[in-house]
Amino acid sequence: MERVFIKTFGCRMNDYDSQRMAGALAEDGYIITEKEEEADVVIINTCSVRGHAEDRAMSHIGRYVKGKKVVVAGCMAQNLGAVLKKQFPKIFAVAGTLYFSEMGRILREGGVFTSGGTEEYKTVLRKGGVSGLITIMQGCDNYCSYCIVPYVRGRERSRPVKAIIEELKGMAGEGYKEAMFLGQNVNSYRDRESGADFTKLLLAACEVNGIERIRFMTSHPKDLNSRLIDAVAAEEKLCPHFHLPVQSGSDSVLKRMNRGYTAAEYLAKTSNIREKIKDVSITTDILIGFSGETEEDFLRTVELVEEVRFDSAYMFRYSVRKGTDAEKFPDDVPEEEKLRRLNYLLDLQKKIGEDVNRAYVGREFDVLVLGESEKDRAFMKGTTANNKRVYIGGVLAVPGVTVRAGLTELRGESFIGEIKK
Ligand code: SAH
Ligand code: SF4
Ligand code: F3S
Repeated sequence: MERVFIKTFGCRMNDYDSQRMAGALAEDGYIITEKEEEADVVIINTCSVRGHAEDRAMSHIGRYVKGKKVVVAGCMAQNLGAVLKKQFPKIFAVAGTLYFSEMGRILREGGVFTSGGTEEYKTVLRKGGVSGLITIMQGCDNYCSYCIVPYVRGRERSRPVKAIIEELKGMAGEGYKEAMFLGQNVNSYRDRESGADFTKLLLAACEVNGIERIRFMTSHPKDLNSRLIDAVAAEEKLCPHFHLPVQSGSDSVLKRMNRGYTAAEYLAKTSNIREKIKDVSITTDILIGFSGETEEDFLRTVELVEEVRFDSAYMFRYSVRKGTDAEKFPDDVPEEEKLRRLNYLLDLQKKIGEDVNRAYVGREFDVLVLGESEKDRAFMKGTTANNKRVYIGGVLAVPGVTVRAGLTELRGESFIGEIKK
């Protein structure tokens, strides 16, 4: 039987999809390997969200097709389809975002699979550990003008509560203590069978024995409601962390982006979150240099960042995507100006993040121990409920166990923790 190595790019949903492919392949008799060199087949699970993501995947394809049977899967496969096969004739198969559970057949037949396809959720082959991913919905209906996701992932569809709870119980049985619920916009989750919304799903998930923490991302600001905020405030298991991408602090930019909220509405939601939830973390994504972004617009983003005081922020320079609405708008912020704005905000956010984190030094938190530190094997790594990384020494820090730790020192964005008896 062929041995398969899966290389994953892109977002957390891609990580989950790779585990789905691994599950489907293992059931079909294939051997999944973590070692690239011993693989007969390489599946490259790709991302299309920025030009840079596609370029990186391309260079890996170019390298792998020289020695291995190569399947390109995921978002870029969906986006480029037959064009990819033309560009790299040695590619064995191109499989879009509705074919993850059919990987076995694809490895036998080869070809281009980008239309049709089913979305069966078969076995998920997780790597084992304390924290596991679970996709609760696929696709996106928001059509932000810059974004390719709705085109490569299709219409929004939620998995039934029943199926999610079933999978969660399975994870608990495998020893997982924490689950990360994934979706492009978890706030618009709706189960067609039971009518449950996202808050209801979370409350049902809290009932699963063995799962001690539930995280979720991504929250869309326009759909985040106070029911969810109240639930997170009330339920011990729901982690006080919101990843709430703002993209810009300028109303005219937000409008051209088709985001569906103003800066003031965004700020009202973040203050609501902070009022109700103690020690909550709020993180964000910011898109820099979108079409027509003036210095004034940029300064509005700077102000918003200063006002919200994010724990951390991912920042991206705008990159035009073919087929999106914004492709028609001029990409008129010069690259060096995008870079200047990016660096300015990176600096600012670094200071803010440090200030926010420094205030936690000297305090005690529950830390779920995840495993060994990659950097220093004398330490175990864990996280607080509000998603701070903590490194802890000593024999009591066992993976899967929650310890009470004092945060003694800040190192970069992580903490050193000492177990309290
Ligand atoms: N569904 C999530 C995440 C979408 S993709 C959301 O709505 O926030 C993750 C991030 O990539 C986005 O938040 C955005 O900041 C960035 N992004 C999306 N399209 C982009 C583009 N064309 N150029 C640069 N960054 C982009
Ligand atoms: Fe893209 Fe907007 Fe959907 Fe997020 S909400 S995936 S940015 S279209
Ligand atoms: Fe994720 Fe990139 Fe696809 S962000 S949904 S892998 S385009």
